[in-house]
Amino acid sequence: MLLKRTHTCGELRLDDQSKDVVINGWIDGHRDLGGLVFADVRDRYGVTQIVIDESDEAISDQMMQQAAKLRAEDVVGCRGVVRERESKNPELPTGDIEIVVTELVVYSKSDVPPFEVKTDVQASDDLRLRYRYLDLRRQPLQQKLQLRSRVAHAIRGFYHHHDFAEIETPVLMKSTPEGARDYLVPSRVNAGTFYALPQSPQTYKQMLMVSGFDRYVQIVKCFRDEDLRADRQPEFTQVDVEMSFVDEEDIYTLHEGLMGHLWSTFMDVELPKTFHRMTYEEAIHSYGSDKPDVRFNSPIVDLSEALSSTGFKLFDGAVAAGGHVLGIRIPGQSVLGRGALDRFIEKVKHATGVPGVIYAKWTDEGLTSSVAKFLTEDHHQAIMEASGAEKGDLVLILAGEGMQLFSHMGTMRLLAADEWNLRETHPSSFGPWAFCWVTDFPLVEWDEEEQRYFALHHPFTSPYPEDVAQLESDPGSVRSRAYDLVLNGSEIGGGSIRIHEQDMQRKVFDLLGIGEKEAEEKFGFLLKAFSYGAPPHGGIALGLDRILMIMTGADSIREVIAFPKNQRAQSLMDASPSPVSTEQIDELHIRLAEGVKPQETDEES
Ligand code: AMO
Repeated sequence: MLLKRTHTCGELRLDDQSKDVVINGWIDGHRDLGGLVFADVRDRYGVTQIVIDESDEAISDQMMQQAAKLRAEDVVGCRGVVRERESKNPELPTGDIEIVVTELVVYSKSDVPPFEVKTDVQASDDLRLRYRYLDLRRQPLQQKLQLRSRVAHAIRGFYHHHDFAEIETPVLMKSTPEGARDYLVPSRVNAGTFYALPQSPQTYKQMLMVSGFDRYVQIVKCFRDEDLRADRQPEFTQVDVEMSFVDEEDIYTLHEGLMGHLWSTFMDVELPKTFHRMTYEEAIHSYGSDKPDVRFNSPIVDLSEALSSTGFKLFDGAVAAGGHVLGIRIPGQSVLGRGALDRFIEKVKHATGVPGVIYAKWTDEGLTSSVAKFLTEDHHQAIMEASGAEKGDLVLILAGEGMQLFSHMGTMRLLAADEWNLRETHPSSFGPWAFCWVTDFPLVEWDEEEQRYFALHHPFTSPYPEDVAQLESDPGSVRSRAYDLVLNGSEIGGGSIRIHEQDMQRKVFDLLGIGEKEAEEKFGFLLKAFSYGAPPHGGIALGLDRILMIMTGADSIREVIAFPKNQRAQSLMDASPSPVSTEQIDELHIRLAEGVKPQETDEES
């Protein structure tokens, strides 16, 4: 029998005293005092205490027996009367009241769960993923997914308000190059052919512009077969946007508005009306990353000049080979002892593979460094001046060649921020929500191994008109009209103004080593579409999961996705991917390679 609820488990207050009510939910905890059973009933809205008292006339023997046998995660319905609690629980919104039960229905009993459903869960990640439906009953995950639902709703509302059309694009499609491997789907009807799952709906949204839709948005699943990290899943959600007759400024302004709307609605924070902009070159040279974390300062500074005549081989060698000596200032850490510094340097070595880190510090005793015998007082002074360090500060130094040196500095900078809490102790003027646009990415990047150019964003990105002349003579120097939206050191969105002329598109394909035949095969439909009147257009895709991760302070992207995959792209709950029958494979006109045995899903640890 169903007792239809009158209230949720998070709703009742002292004002509701004496009301006859019905709640439904899961048993969160219970105490049997012999003839008197207390239990907490939980649903997605909260927890309410119920009391079942043997001496109450309404309570039958059978009901009392059921009450005594209640266990965690049983599902119940109970009718009763609200009364003021004798010992109140100030931690709970419903903590002033309890329900004196007059009717109890146990809808279903629960086996002993593999872990206790409580906020600070004590279970391995694998076990939690295997029993995801239980993990999702916990408050922290419930709250994150409910926020996700509200944020998605607000995003839709925002774009609709700005006249965007929400249009669905196919999931079975032709491969779009976004830099990852495709998930392929063999076709049964068309033997020997495959669909790709969308890495993004890039080509479709450009086609919609050719069709005149002008402003398109879609909250869409994308699929990429790439190495997983804390902020990457093989299937993830983009807020995908494309607009016609726009330039970069239109995209920036609209999305600054969207972020401002989300932060004021859900985080109670007023963001600046416009976000900081930084070129790719500045991001790499000052922060060693194209997604700089600017919640704290400590930019990278070039000390090559300051340390040009030390006689120290590492410095001299690096500069002579066209490299650099780079430093970052760590405020207030000159007090660190040898042991603490060595431990930090070990971490840097482990993360970057550099052979060592040099340091200089300015203590009460004066200036000193780990290569003191090579450095005069003047050198020390020059380091401090060039890095902006003051008395009490530490400067960390690396020397070497190539762009990798900057990325090592960037890694060290982030490790230093974690180690010494720089985001809190020395915050930048951006504060805790450091949004910035990174602009002017190079159009292409040379791959030494494959001996060819790759598109840094994707092949549909427009070059800067003033750089087009260098497309043939010096492709590496051509800037693109691509931009990333970065928040707190995480890339939460990326997009570009597109090429909309056939000729330019062919030129870029050519530069990327995509010959005419291949271009025709892979993107002929797009080139053809461009021949029937393509508007100038551009767009962006935001990583919805990443935005939610940052909003909720989650350590892993899995915390904001209902049914995520583990590190090996497996879903432990339903054991996918999984082997399929030989008949199914035959039907698809494919065969497993010789010797391949279908792999079992990971066992829980
Ligand atoms: P891009 O490849 O930069 O651009 O992707 C856009 C945003 O999607 C998010 N993202 C991911 N999130 C979780 N897991 C992943 N594996 C993952 N990969 C990407 C990031 C990223 O900024 N079609 C272009 C957009 C455009 O040009 O309009 C595109 O997909 O937050």
